[in-house]
Amino acid sequence: MILFFSLFILSLESFSCVVYSDQAVAGSLKTFSLRGLRAKPAYYEELQQIANFKRSNEKVLTVEDYGAKGGGVDDTMAFGKAWNAACSSDTPISLLIPKGNIYQLKPITFSGPCLSDISVMIMGTIEASSNPSDWNGKNQRIWILFNNVNNLLVLGGGTINGNGNIWWQKSCKVDKSQPCKDAPTALTFNACNGLTVESLNVINSQQIHIMFENSKNVIASSLSIVAPSNSPNTDGIHIARTQNITINQCTFATGDDCISIVGGSQDVHATNITCGPGHGISIGSLGAEGSTDQVLGVTIDTAHLIGTSNGVHIKTWQGGSGYAKNILFKNIKMSNVENPIIIDQNYCDSTKPCAQQKSAVQVSNVQYNNIMGTSASNFAINFNCSKSFPCSGIILQDINLIKNGGGSAKSFFANAMLTNIGTVIPTTS
Ligand SMILES: *[C@@H]1O[C@H](CO)[C@@H](O)[C@H](O)[C@H]1NC(C)=O
Ligand SMILES: *[C@@H]1O[C@H](CO)[C@@H](O)[C@H](O)[C@H]1NC(C)=O
Ligand SMILES: *[C@@H]1O[C@H](CO)[C@@H](O)[C@H](O)[C@H]1NC(C)=O
Repeated sequence: MILFFSLFILSLESFSCVVYSDQAVAGSLKTFSLRGLRAKPAYYEELQQIANFKRSNEKVLTVEDYGAKGGGVDDTMAFGKAWNAACSSDTPISLLIPKGNIYQLKPITFSGPCLSDISVMIMGTIEASSNPSDWNGKNQRIWILFNNVNNLLVLGGGTINGNGNIWWQKSCKVDKSQPCKDAPTALTFNACNGLTVESLNVINSQQIHIMFENSKNVIASSLSIVAPSNSPNTDGIHIARTQNITINQCTFATGDDCISIVGGSQDVHATNITCGPGHGISIGSLGAEGSTDQVLGVTIDTAHLIGTSNGVHIKTWQGGSGYAKNILFKNIKMSNVENPIIIDQNYCDSTKPCAQQKSAVQVSNVQYNNIMGTSASNFAINFNCSKSFPCSGIILQDINLIKNGGGSAKSFFANAMLTNIGTVIPTTS
């Protein structure tokens, strides 16, 4: 009998979660336990915000119920337990990371598939362990990984801080005596179908801030991604082998590409983007080390690039194969941007010079429409295409780019088949 009871209590504890109903937010707080447990007064104030974020009928479970403490201790285990509870819930559930605390995490994987839809509400701050040895024996490219989770929603207004300083110092791009090694991506979404990531601040990632790979039907919106302009390889959003993704209302200021789109990506849309400092919006690099890459269907509509080292950039290595096609850049404002419009088929991000090669990733059907502003370099338009696979179907329509501070900029084109529509400044003839 005693044994029976203690087992019973244990099972209550391990499945504990707090349930907030919508009536609770409207007035009389109705907090009840799903299978036991307590509510914390501090959460009551957040109820309205939680109600705004959560999908209807979702229960709410918090990482603190699984032992997360915040304030400098390692919370990796508690987050893992909370995820397992959420992922095995047989009804839709929200996993809450409460406001006001800083939770420290070592590398962690949140794996699906899950029994029900999950929302992860990050209202507080999640910070990476600052000790690279926590990655010993682990994948150096991963800090937080969501793997194979469908209909996942990640949101909440909180902050994810990669604490990247120590990794930047050890980067071979910063300290030439160091070997070139991988560093973690703060947030990786792999094989997620029907994913929404919104209202988050992602800062100081060790390397790439957010990576979408092997995923489809993705919305990323209202994200603020910030790292120092001299932090190496800190791309904002990196998209690989992902189809049907929309990025909107996002602000980027980092040390590398604001958005980078690489092989296997299709139907990529970005709207209302602010980018800078950083390296601009890039398709590529593609075709590295003789690889075959395919990018099909990219629209960048409404963006402001400020002081970036490139504007809208397509970059491919010599010796690769595949294609980048059906690409539209429109309604883009450039403010003091180094290479506002650029296609570089001789891309070479290597310490050794890259040898001339015959094969190339074919670039075709690329439209630039309504692109205005100022160039920091002489060449506002630069199409440096492959001799053996010239860029084809390049359309420039209503372009007006002058040199920053006044004066006219120039255009350069090699092996590019161009059509001009409307006024194109600088001229390409
Ligand atoms: C693209 O993804 C969005 C967001 O998940 C979805 O609503 C839409 O139906 C998808 N479009 C296609 C063609 O699958
Ligand atoms: C564009 O995004 C900014 C935030 O980056 C937002 O304040 C603004 O309302 C958005 N504009 C439109 C037209 O969506
Ligand atoms: C075009 O590419 C070649 C090979 O990388 C490079 O030497 C040249 O400077 C480039 N031209 C311009 C105008 O960028």
